[in-house]
Amino acid sequence: KKYILDLTVRSVERVHERYVLIKLTQQDAFPPMNPGQFVEVRVDGSASTFLRRPISINFVDKEKNELWLLVATVGEGTKTLAKMKPGDKLNCVLPLGNGFTIPCDRIVGHRMLLAGGGVGVAPLLYLGKLLKEQGVDITFLLGARSAKDLLMLSEFEKYGRVLVTTEDGSMGEKGFVTNHSVLQKESFDMIQVCGPTPMMKAVARYAREKDIECEVSLENLMACGLGACLCCVEKVRVDGDASTTEATNVCVCKDGPVFNIKRLLW
Ligand code: FES
Repeated sequence: KKYILDLTVRSVERVHERYVLIKLTQQDAFPPMNPGQFVEVRVDGSASTFLRRPISINFVDKEKNELWLLVATVGEGTKTLAKMKPGDKLNCVLPLGNGFTIPCDRIVGHRMLLAGGGVGVAPLLYLGKLLKEQGVDITFLLGARSAKDLLMLSEFEKYGRVLVTTEDGSMGEKGFVTNHSVLQKESFDMIQVCGPTPMMKAVARYAREKDIECEVSLENLMACGLGACLCCVEKVRVDGDASTTEATNVCVCKDGPVFNIKRLLW
């Protein structure tokens, strides 16, 4: 079920020169939301920003009744969002799409790797919280260009071990997420990834080689978020059988954005 809600801005915090963290609240409790799902926000105020913006769910704080959105301030619409003040209203449609798999029962000792790069780290925070509640042993592997581009590290540390890579070597191991030594030294039961497509493809290749279950959150351009405009279409296998050649077009906004790599033609 989807809801159209007028949420109240509680705070807008600049966490990086290109990112703001917007915390939203409302009187009633929020409906259930899964990590990997997203919100379509309406940006008012200018003719060129009449479309809603898809923004992934960064975190849901049940105690404070807050929904957090980590927003890259790249275009006119998102820059407008960054200028909002506490008390302002933001119209949101939520929750949209299908998120990451969370085990229904507690599975103590299950080792999972949550890998992210850039703003792709956003959904991994809430994902980490819910997985930790299920007893999962979590390693976050987060990549960025430089130390200053690693977002919300102290939040991630609450839910698991945090390993980082930076392209300039200013923090953690130098290089990319897929070169991190942990991938050679340790083994995992499952990998969940969100980040730039080349990084997700490289992690998917690694997971296939090691025969590890892997889910990725596709980054296809989205507009309506409801399966209506078809701008986010991706060709996927009809079922998860790698030997199948039968493929079909699906809307990433509705059937995804999270997919098991078994369904992808990568
Ligand atoms: Fe419009 Fe997916 S964003 S169909």
